[in-house]
Amino acid sequence: MSETSPKLRAELEGIPTYKPGKPAAAGGPVAYKLSSNENPYPPLPGVMEAVTSAASSFNRYPDMACTSLMEELSERFAVPVSHLATGTGSVGVAQQLLQATSGPGDEVIYAWRSFEAYPIITRISGATAVQVPLTPGDVHDLDAMAEAITERTRLIFVCNPNNPTGTVVRRAELKRFLDRVPRDVLVVIDEAYREFIRDPEVPDGVEFYRDRPNVCVLRTFSKAYGLAGLRIGFAIAHEPVAAALRKTAVPFGVSQVAQDAAIASLRAEDELIGRVGSLVCERNRVMEALRAQGWKVPESQANFVWLRLGERTTAFAQACEQAGVVVRPFLGEGVRVTVGEAEANDIFLKVTEAFYKEL
Ligand SMILES: Cc1ncc(COP(=O)(O)O)c(C=O)c1O
Repeated sequence: MSETSPKLRAELEGIPTYKPGKPAAAGGPVAYKLSSNENPYPPLPGVMEAVTSAASSFNRYPDMACTSLMEELSERFAVPVSHLATGTGSVGVAQQLLQATSGPGDEVIYAWRSFEAYPIITRISGATAVQVPLTPGDVHDLDAMAEAITERTRLIFVCNPNNPTGTVVRRAELKRFLDRVPRDVLVVIDEAYREFIRDPEVPDGVEFYRDRPNVCVLRTFSKAYGLAGLRIGFAIAHEPVAAALRKTAVPFGVSQVAQDAAIASLRAEDELIGRVGSLVCERNRVMEALRAQGWKVPESQANFVWLRLGERTTAFAQACEQAGVVVRPFLGEGVRVTVGEAEANDIFLKVTEAFYKEL
């Protein structure tokens, strides 16, 4: 047998594999998973019914055009169906956007630290990642991002609110930034956590999409709508971007179960948005408690909080795990903690209280 292995693309060398949030330890005393920004509420009965019913025909391929869901979204956002594209989670759509716009020699700009999939999917495309550090307050530095644009720039991610810091960019600053971006560079406003925003100065990216053909908005059913495991997200973008997304989609990538669950979730929105309201209350309670304990926490408009722990990151994550909550450490930088059930948040706050005293 020859030792030669199949030739792989050189770009893949050194690209880390996406690291999922650690699951809660099975069989432990009480273990809560606060490591993946998931929605802690179980599926609503009506959504379960839609899923069960769709599952009865999974010997068939799904509706590849996601017709019913597209109609529903088109009405809701007042956008033409031709400006919508679905994918296997919004991260799937983000990867398609890179396939559609960027390759070797091109540049992709995003803030750092931000969503950990951006560097991975950028490097897979063969394009060069241009990471622009967050400001000392952990916010996107939009001026520096605008200054980083070159003739090679093809795509810019603006993660609003930003994962993992929870911080936001507001209307006036985003508008000023978009005015500086050349019209042939695609700006992707990633709004995975849109529904958790309560700051009225944070714009809905769709406002900017309306009269800017180079703006694409990414949304997901994974977070507020609680469908993370079904993998469905979507983009709102003008032609030809939306058409390019249809070309780059994995055929039949979005299952019928996911499509029907998304429709049932949109119809159960009052109840789901009520749950989001409870999570927002919990987020605010957690932030206030952390500040009362003495922590400096950036204002989060998402379903997680960020503690910049530097060298103490690993020790803190271990202390959390021992206490029964699993969080998401970013080595040497900090810890992102999802806002979960009140009991889980209480355990986390006990750990932060004890830990702060030792700092
Ligand atoms: C900023 C951001 N965008 C996109 C995603 C992807 O979500 P999904 O692929 O489940 O829609 C996430 C998930 O954590 C995220 O944090």
